[in-house]
Amino acid sequence: MRVDVVTIFPEYLAPLELSLIGKARTNGTLRLDVHDLRKWTFDVHRTVDDTPYGGGPGMVMRPEPWGLALDELAGPDTHLIVPSPAGAPFTQATARALAADEHLLFACGRYEGIDQRVFEHAAARMRVSEISLGDYVLFGGEVAVLVVLEAVTRLLPGVLGNADSLVEESHADGLLEAPMYTKPPSWRGLDVPEILRSGDHGRIARWRREQGLQRTAERRPDLIAALEERSRGTDQGA
Ligand code: ADE
Repeated sequence: MRVDVVTIFPEYLAPLELSLIGKARTNGTLRLDVHDLRKWTFDVHRTVDDTPYGGGPGMVMRPEPWGLALDELAGPDTHLIVPSPAGAPFTQATARALAADEHLLFACGRYEGIDQRVFEHAAARMRVSEISLGDYVLFGGEVAVLVVLEAVTRLLPGVLGNADSLVEESHADGLLEAPMYTKPPSWRGLDVPEILRSGDHGRIARWRREQGLQRTAERRPDLIAALEERSRGTDQGA
């Protein structure tokens, strides 16, 4: 997969050198380049922003540098991803869909955002998706790019040592994962549930499923409702 990130703070993306994302870059699973938006500015101050039309506080990113950046970086298979609190919520399903893309191009906005015409112009040439991490506001899109890329990269073939972890983890089947334990069997008076040490894989799988359901019902009833909604849809469609 090819990934380009355009930002006015390339240093913010330094963690992408580390750990499994760094390894995926080194072994060629991921070709990732971070670009400074100011590369596409030509005035002495390397200006990227200006005051908003219609008034209001803050600054808006001017369209010209973004237009040039996209002209240079986008190709026939590009999916432009714009992190924004006004975007669609980012979920594991989004991560799965993005992991199948050939080329992700992230546009990190700062200030009050990017001039809307950049997206209008891009949408005639490529797929454009605005993605939100959640209902809160960050300074800019850089941290959202770190989150999205981590969620996407671990789904790429060969990145995780044990692909089974993808099957059992939280959100894989729409539910939260059951609690996990390791050695020692007893720690500070607290014992690992006996069933996990029974060696009975059928019972263990059932226990984990029940625990996952119970946790999801307690912590995320919205996920249960979404699963029920989906299964109603499937029933009707069948
Ligand atoms: N940029 C600013 N706030 C954001 C959010 N909540 N999600 C994604 N990108 C953002």
